[in-house]
Amino acid sequence: MYQAEPFRIKMVEPIRLLPREVRIQKMEEAGYNPFALQSADVFIDLLTDSGTGAMSDRQWAALMRGDEAYAGSRSYQHLKEVSQQLFGHRYILPVHQGRGAEQVLFPLLINEAKPLVLGNMHFDTTRAHIQLAGGEGIDLVIEEAYQSANPHPFKGNIDLTQLSACLEKEGDRVAMIIMTVTCNGAGGQPVSMANLKEAYQLARKYHVPLILDAARFAENAYFIRQREEGYTHKTIAEIVREMFRYCDGFTMSAKKDGLVNIGGLLGIKENEEWALECQARLVAYEGFPTYGGLAGRDMEALAVGLTEVIEPEYLEQRIGQVRRLGEDLIKRGIPIQQPVGGHAIFVDAGQVYPHIPKDQFPAQVLACQLYMAAGVRGVEIGSLLYGRHPQTGADGCSPVEFLRLAIPRRTYTDNHMRVVAEGLSAVMEEAGQHKGLQLEYEAPILRHFTARLKPV
Ligand code: F0G
Repeated sequence: MYQAEPFRIKMVEPIRLLPREVRIQKMEEAGYNPFALQSADVFIDLLTDSGTGAMSDRQWAALMRGDEAYAGSRSYQHLKEVSQQLFGHRYILPVHQGRGAEQVLFPLLINEAKPLVLGNMHFDTTRAHIQLAGGEGIDLVIEEAYQSANPHPFKGNIDLTQLSACLEKEGDRVAMIIMTVTCNGAGGQPVSMANLKEAYQLARKYHVPLILDAARFAENAYFIRQREEGYTHKTIAEIVREMFRYCDGFTMSAKKDGLVNIGGLLGIKENEEWALECQARLVAYEGFPTYGGLAGRDMEALAVGLTEVIEPEYLEQRIGQVRRLGEDLIKRGIPIQQPVGGHAIFVDAGQVYPHIPKDQFPAQVLACQLYMAAGVRGVEIGSLLYGRHPQTGADGCSPVEFLRLAIPRRTYTDNHMRVVAEGLSAVMEEAGQHKGLQLEYEAPILRHFTARLKPV
């Protein structure tokens, strides 16, 4: 039977589709960079799934129960109890968002003697915080992650042979292993329980801590239940609990699977010394340990979100919606990363535009064309984001040219997804006529946010 949303809509926010000529003009004014568009000029905003979802009526009601005490807030107590129960970690510290947890934890583990951080694929801010602490992030995701047509069920897995070799050779210099679940950089691809478990066993063997970057933990658990032998009959809560056994601590952006607009968590399984050091740093960077940069009401809404995100009906619809969009795109002959991941569709722009060289940013072209065709905003994950070659200064170095369409949770209907698919189809039909882009302005670092471009 067709799967409908397991909720009804109690409040709506009007959105409008500007006329095509206006969209073309807005894109030109934005310097062919969708980051520079005003949200009011976007019809369907798939820039990110982070903090852009809808809260439930129970979460909105929970906001009213927020205890805004500076110390000893009852909302913190509630959040702590829910988190301890779900993740099985003893120490739970609230932070303002995922990168808050990174800036508190990483400098504790990274130092001159131990600069290396191994992982499946580090997220941008994670890599930035590793570097800020004087370290270096190394991605060891399996080769299949880079092959968009390869149907491997767990493309977020770390390459255990490489991990083992790296630990054997450089173990003393490794600060930690970070497993990102799901693997955002590869398109929301899951990590299998077997892979997590083996990575953790290796970590223990070499006395290296393993940290979970758990932004999309529930989506990962859902895929384990669907695809991994032995997990079909387990509940999502049981799977989550097992995942979190195979790590020593976690950082979490709660703006994804916390189902809130702001918030994050830092969890430490049992190491009291770490917990105390993190607490001390938390006070300096985020806030007193019972609020960590959040309002009491934010913590209350997060406590409820963490219980809703593991409901099977929720996950079924959430992942189902992304999958249905993927299937529609495949039917229309649009090349995407397969199988479809948890939170996003990655369109392979290199295949859409074989005539546009990588240093003319094919995925950025696709992002701009999709906005002009249908008012849909996605984000480039390709050579513009990647930046220049550190030695030669050359452009076009990214191994992939993807357009990411990240789907916010409980926000758009399948009809909106159909507009996205029709928009992409329309772009595909005229793809041969589209031209590349060249840079007009770029900042020295993180240039994709503020770059201005123009057609070649
Ligand atoms: N880790 C992962 C895997 C993420 O996807 C993000 C954010 C973070 C950490 C940082 O969390 O934003 O709360 O500070 N990802 C967003 C995205 C921004 O669009 O993918 P944050």
